[in-house]
Amino acid sequence: MASELAYSGKLAVLNNDLLVSEQSQALANQLGVPLYYSVDKKTAEDFFLTWRDGELKLLDKELLKKGGLSVDIQPRNGEQRSWPAPKEGALAQAIGRKTKTVVDATTGWAQDSLHLFRMGYEVQCIERSPIMLALLGDAFQRLEQVDWVQRLKLSAPSLLAGNAIEVLASLEDAPDCIYIDPMFPPKRKKSALPKKSMLILRDLLGDDSDSQQLFDVAIAATGKKVVVKMPDYAEPLGGKPSEVFGSKLVRYDVYLRGN
Ligand SMILES: C[S@@+](CC[C@H](N)C(=O)[O-])C[C@H]1O[C@@H](n2cnc3c(N)ncnc32)[C@H](O)[C@@H]1O
Repeated sequence: MASELAYSGKLAVLNNDLLVSEQSQALANQLGVPLYYSVDKKTAEDFFLTWRDGELKLLDKELLKKGGLSVDIQPRNGEQRSWPAPKEGALAQAIGRKTKTVVDATTGWAQDSLHLFRMGYEVQCIERSPIMLALLGDAFQRLEQVDWVQRLKLSAPSLLAGNAIEVLASLEDAPDCIYIDPMFPPKRKKSALPKKSMLILRDLLGDDSDSQQLFDVAIAATGKKVVVKMPDYAEPLGGKPSEVFGSKLVRYDVYLRGN
């Protein structure tokens, strides 16, 4: 679980542009980390949050001179906003066409949440890492400026800060589906090569060692089903799933409530 102390000596806010210094200072205060105006070899921290090109970005020392990582809100190739959700694709099949509302309990870079949002599901996002929450807040503001989102008068998914184990237990309305994609330790060479964004996230936050407990809370809190994304080598979180949908080296285990 990330806390202010967990970032001590690890993360700083980097201000490249005098115009956003107030915003940077506010973010540094909020996260309890230092604010720098430049970084050199002696800088102790390995990770930096900075506004560049109108986006909040996360950089490690390797990415300092390159672009940095922001939450990508661009649709993937061939994706378009549609309802009911498409019949094809392992994620769409696992979530199902009878599902309307989805809570993503482990939002991270929101690539699954945003994919679901673009498929037409009503998505709520839970995230406990204050760094990811800052990046997600920035991304969802950007999303609300996008043409098709404005044309359809949509709001970005709502963002719930905190540990999903507690947040799920206090939800007023049970969603049709709770989605879980915990950070998993890599096992073998042939497993899906994690993207830079996922490697950085694991470096910064570590693995999610409480995912079993999260599953137990999710199955009690869902209206209809829980979908768990797993690397193909990992044991299922909740015993034998009702259904499994596979895609390359990842699978989606579906658990129906009451089974
Ligand atoms: C593997 S990443 C999720 C990636 C995401 N599916 C995507 O498409 O980008 C896991 C994320 O879930 C968050 N997380 C894990 N357990 C959580 C919990 N109990 N409550 C809230 N957030 C959690 C971690 O902080 C991390 O950001």
